Amino acid sequence: MTSATGPTHRRVGCVWWDDRVPDTQPAPGPVPLVVDTDPGIDDALALLLALASPEVDLRLVTTVHGNVDLAQTTENALRVLHLAGRSDVPVAVGARSSLAVPQARRAGHVHGAAGLGGVVLPPSPAAVDPRPAVVALAELLLSSERPVTVAAIGPLTNIALLLAVYPDAAARIGRLVVMGGSATRGGNVTAAAEFNVWADPEAAAVVFAAGLPTVLVGLDVTLPTVLTEAGIARFAAAGPVGAQAAAMLQQYLDHARTSYGTDGVVVHDALALTEAIVPGTLRTVPRDVVVDTGPGAGRGQTLVDRRTPSSSPTAVAVAEGVDSDAAVEFLVNRLERLAAQG
Ligand code: BDR
Ligand code: CA
Repeated sequence: MTSATGPTHRRVGCVWWDDRVPDTQPAPGPVPLVVDTDPGIDDALALLLALASPEVDLRLVTTVHGNVDLAQTTENALRVLHLAGRSDVPVAVGARSSLAVPQARRAGHVHGAAGLGGVVLPPSPAAVDPRPAVVALAELLLSSERPVTVAAIGPLTNIALLLAVYPDAAARIGRLVVMGGSATRGGNVTAAAEFNVWADPEAAAVVFAAGLPTVLVGLDVTLPTVLTEAGIARFAAAGPVGAQAAAMLQQYLDHARTSYGTDGVVVHDALALTEAIVPGTLRTVPRDVVVDTGPGAGRGQTLVDRRTPSSSPTAVAVAEGVDSDAAVEFLVNRLERLAAQG
């Protein structure tokens, strides 16, 4: 850190880092949170978890293409917020497509054609924010007195665009918690690639090389973290919001059984949100991460150098350890409480 009279900006990766930011004493209270998302059933659970958590203040939702197309992810985000009685949270519309190569296919077979497992939620009275997602995100980052946590739980197109267009704003991200990638588990959409990275590998490559304070929550920790039918039943019984969340999960449950052989649901994005809400939930190791952006069978693979922890300024904190029982209990407990209020 530099002194008050010294230089305040230095180049870190491809962004300018403002050394004055860490000097700012965080005000007490919840941490400002942005969720960048492509709902998606587990995205919906993650949004509900954020709304159920007093440690964070959900200030903005930005939408991105991914599980379904952009119009549908945006509509789903609005409806999930409305379900929880939080239509006041702004929803800003992000990238319609990947940076370089359009995503080959959506994930309707996982999330249902409309993204929420066949559940039709009531429409929200709220309109989308008039600002493009990167503008809304940049304005929040630049105006926030406290460092903002950004949870990116879809393809990383919006975050890569933020880095390209508003690097000074991106440099103010307090923590970037990404659901994506896999160090040891192979892929879930191809043999090599996890879905969010596969959907826009060029964007992921930019983000992971940017030197942002990034935590990568990949399949290594999400796949062992299984929400069982007994857990789902607990929040289903707690009130209408819980019942709707449980209904969305039915299709996901079927998919998890056939794809992962798990007797329960792997709610990838909710685990990333847990790490965003309670930093240190996951055991992380600084690693150098490279994304395969070639056209071959490895496209979208995250190549994580696990030989030794990295001391590079562009290292990413890769999640390698999880207490799955505790993480599932955290989620179920929070959703129970949210449902009981609603
Ligand atoms: C990721 O892919 C999407 O289908 C999920 O919403 C999650 O973000 C898991 O690989
Ligand atoms: Ca997602």
